[in-house]
Amino acid sequence: MSALKNDSFLRALLREPTDYTPMWMMRQAGRYLPEYNATRARAGDFLTLCKTPDLATEVTLQPLARYPLDAAILFSDILTVPDAMGLGLYFADGEGPRFERPLRDEWEVRDLSVPDPTDKLGYVMDAVRSIRRALDGSVPLIGFSGSPYTLACYMVEGGGSSDYRHIKTMLYSRPDLLHHILEINTQAIIAYLNAQIEAGAQAVMIFDSWGGSLSAYAYPEFSLAYMERIVAGLIKERDGRRVPSIIFTKGGGNWLEAMAGIGADAVGLDWTVDIGEARRRIGAQVALQGNLDPSVLHGTPDSIRTEATRIIDSYGNHPGHVFNLGHGISQFTHPDNVTVLVEAVHSRSRAVRTASVPA
Ligand code: CP3
Repeated sequence: MSALKNDSFLRALLREPTDYTPMWMMRQAGRYLPEYNATRARAGDFLTLCKTPDLATEVTLQPLARYPLDAAILFSDILTVPDAMGLGLYFADGEGPRFERPLRDEWEVRDLSVPDPTDKLGYVMDAVRSIRRALDGSVPLIGFSGSPYTLACYMVEGGGSSDYRHIKTMLYSRPDLLHHILEINTQAIIAYLNAQIEAGAQAVMIFDSWGGSLSAYAYPEFSLAYMERIVAGLIKERDGRRVPSIIFTKGGGNWLEAMAGIGADAVGLDWTVDIGEARRRIGAQVALQGNLDPSVLHGTPDSIRTEATRIIDSYGNHPGHVFNLGHGISQFTHPDNVTVLVEAVHSRSRAVRTASVPA
């Protein structure tokens, strides 16, 4: 493997100094890019795209060909894990993900088992190896998984949900069953992320998209504690370099201190918190990743520059910031607006570093 030409993302995650603030975007390979839609049409559907390593490699590289981003993220989905557990993932057109066999009865929960990642999820590891070859050391590759609680939400609800009725009914009437699902998910995710690291992922991120729907009492017990166990179980070093981990609970702004304390190298922030305040609260412990409202990308080039500058300046001239959106990029984003954003983040943060602007 060749040495990394741009390791600013990995260094920022370890709170080492960088010449500028590195950036990538959640869902950077996706439907806002016409070239993504063309490859997806060739694949036939989204899941085939995920399960065909050559095509997953092609779409992973598409945003990097357009923009000078500082990291690539594996093209896949968090729901490949419950799919490998036999729940039958499918995407109904325009409706988002669904499971043919959601977990509703006790016997279904008791029947769950941890899938072997190199077997049932071998296509993901093939994609990781193929993407690393194609990147050829240009930027690092991020691997990822969902959090145990977020996966459980989809597994119990059977798809997306607006009120989480089924999983919350389980949480407040049969917490033992939910803990059993979370236990299996935790073991599955540790094995899955470690397999990605062994295949070549250079950092890993845990997406806790629905942890923010929990109460302040339930979050530590049903989401954070399991993420802590995952972080503890991850391979920490590979090819002589630390493999940093990032946790991201959308809607977790009230629990920053707790999130920063589980041993992850970085905490992802959604756009509801001021990143400068977050740094003052927890920045000495971890790096921070975020946190532009993705809707800013629907605005004018001037407003995109203004909002990016606010975040860069609020964080200030300190190491340990990876710029990102506060959630996935919208499919209705104009690709040219991303060009404006990446340029603004890189140039403003260089200026802050050289103190040619006050921050
Ligand atoms: O960031 C990247 O570019 C990497 C790829 C990636 C995808 N999904 C591709 C995808 C990643 C990291 C994910 C994570 C994911 N998937 C999450 C966690 C992050 C978050 O958004 O909170 C969740 C909850 C899912 C589950 C999922 N997959 C949903 C809810 C949907 C439908 C979303 C929608 O916008 O309709 C998907 C499908 C999906 N995953 C798409 C992509 C590019 C769109 C699929 C398509 O081409 O039709």
